[in-house]
Amino acid sequence: MATIYCTATSLDGFIADDAESLSWLFNTPGHADDPGGRHGDGDSLGFDRFFEGVGAIVLGASTYAWLERELTQDGAEFTWPYSHPTWLMTHRDITPIDGVTRASGDVTELHPQLVEAAGDKGVWVMGGGDLAGQFADAGLLDTVWVHQVPVTLGAGKPLLPRRLRLRREALERDGQFTAMRFAVVGPEPRG
Ligand SMILES: NC(=O)c1ccc[n+]([C@@H]2O[C@H](COP(=O)([O-])OP(=O)(O)OC[C@H]3O[C@@H](n4cnc5c(N)ncnc54)[C@H](OP(=O)(O)O)[C@@H]3O)[C@@H](O)[C@H]2O)c1
Repeated sequence: MATIYCTATSLDGFIADDAESLSWLFNTPGHADDPGGRHGDGDSLGFDRFFEGVGAIVLGASTYAWLERELTQDGAEFTWPYSHPTWLMTHRDITPIDGVTRASGDVTELHPQLVEAAGDKGVWVMGGGDLAGQFADAGLLDTVWVHQVPVTLGAGKPLLPRRLRLRREALERDGQFTAMRFAVVGPEPRG
């Protein structure tokens, strides 16, 4: 099944701002709170729809650290919020919490495990952008599914720091978000 990079992004292509904050994302009204409602080509691209198709998760160390900070800021114990088999890519000497397996190195070697764990569902590359790029470099990234936020950040963590040609397959207005699903075509030549 598909390997999908799904994330929210600013209009200028950042998934986190230069302080690693997502306040700009959480301040954006979705279809339930915005008079713009939900309109598109009929293929619902909401996050819930995406999540139904997820069977396994892979994420980078900074995204993991952000989740830990976010979920423990009120003093709560850090528990993994997803039931799916999850792999954390890191060189850091950390022991991930239950439900998360540590891995490092070439994503090509890990990919078969992710696909097997996902069963008849997809592999969610949660981020960050370079990790998605590593899968793209290996020709293993099938889909980019973004919720674009009408904000510019000027700097931060890049969405997908590679030269890639994508083909837009679906587009939907979801409140103030523009949800788009793209197939990954391959490297975009220069010149
Ligand atoms: N907007 C959204 O929906 C969204 C989605 C995802 C993330 N984010 C945000 O984006 C920020 C993090 O993004 P990021 O670009 O910094 O990326 P990241 O992928 O979360 O973390 C990058 C780090 O992961 C480790 N890593 C990546 N590939 C590896 C590999 N093949 N082997 C071993 N370790 C590997 C490396 O850390 P070490 O070498 O130090 O281990 C690398 O520096 C966070 O603030 C997060 O909240 C936002």
